[in-house]
Amino acid sequence: MPNRLMQTLRLVTTWSLLLLIMMAGCDIPESWNPPYWPTPQSQVELMLELAQVTPNDIVYDLGSGDGRIVIAAASKYGARGVGIEIESKLVKASRQKAIEAGVSNRVLFVEQDMFEADISEATVVTLYLWENVNARLKPKLMEQLKPDTRIVTNTYKIPGWTPVKQIGKLYLYSLSLKSKTEGTSSSKN
Ligand SMILES: C[S@@+](CC[C@H](N)C(=O)[O-])C[C@H]1O[C@@H](n2cnc3c(N)ncnc32)[C@H](O)[C@@H]1O
Repeated sequence: MPNRLMQTLRLVTTWSLLLLIMMAGCDIPESWNPPYWPTPQSQVELMLELAQVTPNDIVYDLGSGDGRIVIAAASKYGARGVGIEIESKLVKASRQKAIEAGVSNRVLFVEQDMFEADISEATVVTLYLWENVNARLKPKLMEQLKPDTRIVTNTYKIPGWTPVKQIGKLYLYSLSLKSKTEGTSSSKN
């Protein structure tokens, strides 16, 4: 069966299963990885604007899909960026798109499980993942990120943290110095 058809079938099956789970009022199993579902391009720019990305930033997208957020951060805002993505095909596609956009010298795409990645150099982190995955990422964000790092999530919040700003379903979080020293965050309830 052609690859593209297989991919579409896999996506349809995954999303149908998810829909059934949600309709049954059950939680998504913890071990599941969120499937590929790209942020619309207009929202990509809003996410980067919400984080006030500048050429001084290093933008990490955890679960970077086809690389659009990292590529836009480099091509439109002059930032550097790193995409961490578990699906090999998406990593390859991202690298190709970066070459086409003329930003391959400022972005890096790594095929890796985001829970294993070193994200300590990030100044901005973007997330379009499920809420239970954001919850599982919290200890990593707290431990590895610098105090003034901005985190922008699409659609799904970081449970227990209060966004400092919101545009529609995009949420901006800020880790404070306090969060690093005392284990609490100004953006945390
Ligand atoms: C909803 S898509 C978001 C893609 C991209 N961030 C965007 O906003 O367009 C989630 C992505 O996370 C990837 N992903 C899921 N679990 C992952 C993991 N544990 N490590 C790295 N990537 C993961 C999926 O393969 C998928 O491409």
